[in-house]
Amino acid sequence: MPAKVLPSYTAECAACHTAYPPGMLPAKSWQRIMKGLDQHYGSDASLDAKTVAEIGQWLQTHAGTYKRVAEEPPQDRLTKSVWFERKHRKIEPAVWQLPSVKSAANCAACHTGTEQGRFDDDHLQRPAGLSARQSRAWND
Ligand code: HEC
Ligand code: HEC
Repeated sequence: MPAKVLPSYTAECAACHTAYPPGMLPAKSWQRIMKGLDQHYGSDASLDAKTVAEIGQWLQTHAGTYKRVAEEPPQDRLTKSVWFERKHRKIEPAVWQLPSVKSAANCAACHTGTEQGRFDDDHLQRPAGLSARQSRAWND
């Protein structure tokens, strides 16, 4: 997360899910997301024009610039990015469907530092319901 997080980003974009770090998607993906808030992954996340412009500008400023984030992932989902799939390759597909997880987009189910934007191995937890085999992806 950038050192200073725009207050309206936290207020409006963390109401239904985690406030995703802007650096995890390229500028073009954020642009499309901000243009389509009325049809946002099956939800209506519309905001007034002023707030859309403010958040949109902030996301453009802090969008991902590293090479690995340059690609625009399918559906502008960071969870469909090549880097995301690589980092989570040891996680069995069934794990994303567990009631304690629900979706790969629900970072906080496994990453205890989600709110602070910390996704390293030191801030991991095992969600409830993992089998012994599935548990091995959490090699601590
Ligand atoms: C009314 C609820 C709601 C609000 C408000 C909302 N979202 Fe979402 N968002 C969703 C849902 C539902 C999904 C799909 C989650 C899933 O697949 O598990 C989603 C998914 C996303 C994803 C893709 C996550 C992935 O799978 O990689 C991004 C990025 C995103 N939202 C950004 C934003 C931004 C930016 C805002 C603020 C302008 C915002 N959201 C506000 C409901 C919302
Ligand atoms: C079902 C649990 C789970 C969910 C949900 C999940 N992750 Fe992870 N993530 C892991 C595990 C376990 C690792 C460590 C994998 C390893 O070390 O091989 C990891 C690794 C990572 C890494 C690499 C960390 C490093 O130090 O290399 C990043 C970045 C990351 N996750 C981001 C995210 C983001 C962002 C989300 C939400 C959009 C998310 N993850 C959702 C379990 C999860």
